[in-house]
Amino acid sequence: MSQQPLGTLSTENLQTLYTQYQSKQLALDLTRGKPSAKQLNLADRIDGILESSFVASNTDTRNYGGLDGLADIKALGSWLLDTPESAVIAGGNSSLTMMYQTVLFQKLFNPSWQGEISFLCPTPGYDRHFSICEELGIKMIPVPLVAGGPDMELAEELVSNDKSIKGIWCVPKYQNPTGVTFDDETVARLANLGNLAGDGFIVLWDNAYAVHHLDNKHPDPLADFWALSEAAGTLDSAFLFASTSKISHAGSGVAFMACSDTQRAFFLKHLGMSSIGPDKVNQLRHVKLFPTKSALANHMALHAELIKPRMELVVRKLDEHLKAPSQGEWTRPNGGYFVTFYAPQGTATKIVALAAGLGVKLTPAGATHPYGNDDSDSVIRLAPSFPSVAELDEAMDAFCLCVALATAQ
Ligand SMILES: Cc1ncc(COP(=O)(O)O)c(C=O)c1O
Repeated sequence: MSQQPLGTLSTENLQTLYTQYQSKQLALDLTRGKPSAKQLNLADRIDGILESSFVASNTDTRNYGGLDGLADIKALGSWLLDTPESAVIAGGNSSLTMMYQTVLFQKLFNPSWQGEISFLCPTPGYDRHFSICEELGIKMIPVPLVAGGPDMELAEELVSNDKSIKGIWCVPKYQNPTGVTFDDETVARLANLGNLAGDGFIVLWDNAYAVHHLDNKHPDPLADFWALSEAAGTLDSAFLFASTSKISHAGSGVAFMACSDTQRAFFLKHLGMSSIGPDKVNQLRHVKLFPTKSALANHMALHAELIKPRMELVVRKLDEHLKAPSQGEWTRPNGGYFVTFYAPQGTATKIVALAAGLGVKLTPAGATHPYGNDDSDSVIRLAPSFPSVAELDEAMDAFCLCVALATAQ
């Protein structure tokens, strides 16, 4: 790769470089935020950790029952969710499933959710949240995500005037895809939204990256959404979610949610129609793996050792090669799994296509927006966790080359 910043090369030189790069036949993937194998290895001790002791607090975890999860795992849930233990429900391996069930049960069984239903979607956001809305026929209304979280001025105006709006998606910490953490004022205003909205309004508080700091000593602070909702008298609107997917093993973790007593009774009533209880053996394995909050924090510090160099590499390459804002702008997250690249208007699709031509897979332009519609054709989500550092280095050179070429053209 050129020693000179790519963004300073002439179009002709960039084109020559692009052709040279094509011959490398790269096969690199920056699409999904999957933990790397090394990250997964950190939790391998979970295999056999029970040593055939399956009983916890008088519960034989091998048997049926315990719809709301094993009592002993609730502490882990409360550390992640930042709620009282008594509010926690521990489920299967996916918090996304619990979010889907939450929305589905409201849609099917909440009388105030009849007729047209809309959701506010802070944008850019997590594509799978948007897929749930699409699947269930819920109209999505984008709300720009700004420095401190969703544009609350707009969110408040919308819920006050449009009673079809029954929910908002939030990833409050190290947001997917921007890495933004919501500021205190935004969290307080989100907790108050239920007072402005029509009946049955819910906030889906997806804290998937609650403990995923790059530097354990300097995590982004996040206000206490549960306490603020309680104080605002809107606890029935608050649904909080988290999981160990990016803490232990992504495919076999434990998911958690928390909500008010009323919503808990409603959720469990409907959940009980499809399940006799979650995998409590796996829940107990997680109790043993993370017996204390500090054991969890120590484990997350090991994750940070692996993910921090990758996140830093992405930002360093962008800083080195591209000139902001004429060649794009990018976020500098303190945690989570993603960096968002804001390409100059109208160039994201082209950049993604150019990268594909070099064998570098990027999330399709628009994927971070409801219905896949990024009107400004600008947002590209970069997910550096999975490739090795060497692969990422190469992928980022190729990415910067494609940005420089697309913007030069
Ligand atoms: C914001 C967000 N929520 C939820 C998930 C998925 O969580 P789970 O594995 O618990 O279903 C992800 C995974 O990337 C995510 O980024």
